Amino acid sequence: MASTPISSATGDARALHARSLEQPEQFWLDAAAGVTWEQAPTRALDDSSAPIYRWFPDGQLNVAYNALDRHVEAGRGEQPALIHDSATTGTQTTYTYSELTDEVARTAGMLAELGVGKGDRVIIYLPMVPQAPIAMLACARLGAVHSVVFGGFSARELASRIDDATPDVVLTASGGIEPKRRVEYLPTVAEAISLAQHPIRDVVVAQRKGFAHSLDEYTDSEAQPARWHDWESSVAAAAPAAPVAVAGTDPLYVLYTSGTTGRPKGVVRDQGGTAVALTWSMPHVFGVDAGETMFTASDVGWVVGHSYIVYGPLLAGATTILYEGKPVGTPDAGAFWRIIAEHGVKTMFTAPTALRAVRKADPEAALLADYDISCLEYLFVAGERLDPDTQRWAAEALKVPVVDNWWQTETGWPIAANPVGVELLPIKEGSASLPTVGYDVVVLDPLGERLPEGQEGSIAIRLPMPPGTMATLWGDDQRFVDSYLSTFEGYYTTGDSGYVDEDGYLYVMGRTDDVINVSGHRLSTGEMEAAVATHPAVAECAVIGLADELKGQRPSGYVVLKSGQEIGEDDLRAELTSLVRSTIGPVADFKDVAVVSALPKTRSGKILRKTMRQIADGDEYKVPSTIEDAGVLDELIPVLRREG
Ligand code: COA
Ligand code: AMP
Repeated sequence: MASTPISSATGDARALHARSLEQPEQFWLDAAAGVTWEQAPTRALDDSSAPIYRWFPDGQLNVAYNALDRHVEAGRGEQPALIHDSATTGTQTTYTYSELTDEVARTAGMLAELGVGKGDRVIIYLPMVPQAPIAMLACARLGAVHSVVFGGFSARELASRIDDATPDVVLTASGGIEPKRRVEYLPTVAEAISLAQHPIRDVVVAQRKGFAHSLDEYTDSEAQPARWHDWESSVAAAAPAAPVAVAGTDPLYVLYTSGTTGRPKGVVRDQGGTAVALTWSMPHVFGVDAGETMFTASDVGWVVGHSYIVYGPLLAGATTILYEGKPVGTPDAGAFWRIIAEHGVKTMFTAPTALRAVRKADPEAALLADYDISCLEYLFVAGERLDPDTQRWAAEALKVPVVDNWWQTETGWPIAANPVGVELLPIKEGSASLPTVGYDVVVLDPLGERLPEGQEGSIAIRLPMPPGTMATLWGDDQRFVDSYLSTFEGYYTTGDSGYVDEDGYLYVMGRTDDVINVSGHRLSTGEMEAAVATHPAVAECAVIGLADELKGQRPSGYVVLKSGQEIGEDDLRAELTSLVRSTIGPVADFKDVAVVSALPKTRSGKILRKTMRQIADGDEYKVPSTIEDAGVLDELIPVLRREG
């Protein structure tokens, strides 16, 4: 069949989207030309194992080469690639493309000397320091598979990822700095290694000023058979490693995310699809070209950090900012504006909760007067629903388009966004605009029938999803199919609900499962319930996500005590807070606990979490006809409404 050559720069977002769905093979082969291949792909899609699809099956490439060396070869060696702006230590460090390439090559050499090669997994547990992106790119250089674990997770969470990914090596640092405390990483890593069934062979530690420097107590411990190495001296002693060509379908990384159960899901991203999709998205979605600067205020432990602190900007030959600090308090609510002004940021990306925190501290955005942010052209926002009030406030303060974009760890890049580099569409408050190229988004009723405009239902994506989306779950194709591809045949289920308006704009309203979003951090209430249930006084419990003005949602626990338990509510709250903190991590932010006499359930024993949430949030609610004992719910209503 003859195909029309597809230009990306049509200036017509709807036409481009339509063509990406009508001629996906041609569209993505054209997009693949934006990447340098060791062996260029002749085919885009491999559907031979549907519903699991593979992209660029006969291509070979190296992602780190694409993110680094090729820009040096193209004359960008002296351009800043990575700027580490640390508000917590008051330092700034710039790596040019040449410097970052050298650093990554030597770090890859160090990993190779530790026996890491193509396909081996490496866990990265680091704060927002340059070693984090360097470690990710060093793995990519060797074709090794990194799995970054967010620093706000506990030893237990780290151990569960070690057991699932089975790495030989953990890369970490001596410490991280939170506004109110120093975070000692090494005891957590040591505890995780003891808790994990899978043995770790080597731990490499980046030593930070102000943290303990001796690794002896870890090296000498009999319970810790791992070898502990100093990062700086190990890298200094290593020979640089060359990029290794890998298949387009090989895994680039595994990133664990919360599901409805206690077991996190290891989302696998492939090499070729990720490189192509992120390279395409930089100019077309985010409006960032080579030589321009992007500032994404997230953490490398989250998908936004993977895609738009590390891989996206570097694949595009842009400059990326790695910010170690908070939106407020480091030192004030002008921190983002300072970074934009000092580093000439064109596109900034953050979470709504961060904007709400800034607004709360500086409602009139008075601190903006101290900075010239005329370089800023776009503010992108994702991670949770962007409430219209915050969107309006940011747009008025910054005088740039505030672009809501919706996606997930699973998709790796926006499912819906205003593609400003193709066409700046009219902005509608509360909407993430139109589906992005390659995403065929539909809203379905529970039977899988398409719902008309304006009606809310489950948001699903017709298969195949575009390149750069999840390839599978690590080591478990069946769980991937069961969790995402089985609810509606031929579709990926996003777990979000929403609707489409008469112009095709998408409105994402919230999750249909037990996943909640606290300060833009995705967490599982099921996992929190499992932690709370281990307390000896607790007979049963429900954890639900309640609306929170600052954090979007906050977890709230309702606990039934075992008979005869005398513990006071304050003591119980303190113990459960510390239990969830040690099981999941401080980031769970679990502080609300109420003791109740019973939990409302259906006759089959399912706790009515949704009804509880609706009552607590003051939303309309309907008591399901399957309720076992309506009196239990009646008794709970004043507690949920925080009356008395
Ligand atoms: N390492 C260790 N601990 C961490 C951590 C990390 N990387 N990140 C957060 N924590 C801890 C905090 O120290 C805090 O612990 P505490 O209870 O001892 O004080 C706890 O986790 C909760 O922290 P946080 O979620 O940051 O809440 P906060 O009330 O301190 O700050 C905000 C509120 C809104 C300023 C903050 O949540 C924020 O910056 N959010 C934006 C998040 C974001 O960008 N997400 C990106 C998704 S795209
Ligand atoms: P994560 O996997 O951590 O990126 O979280 C993904 C989830 O966050 C999505 O499934 C949504 O529930 C929510 N989310 C992310 N971005 C948005 C957005 N722009 N609007 C509404 N919800 C969002």
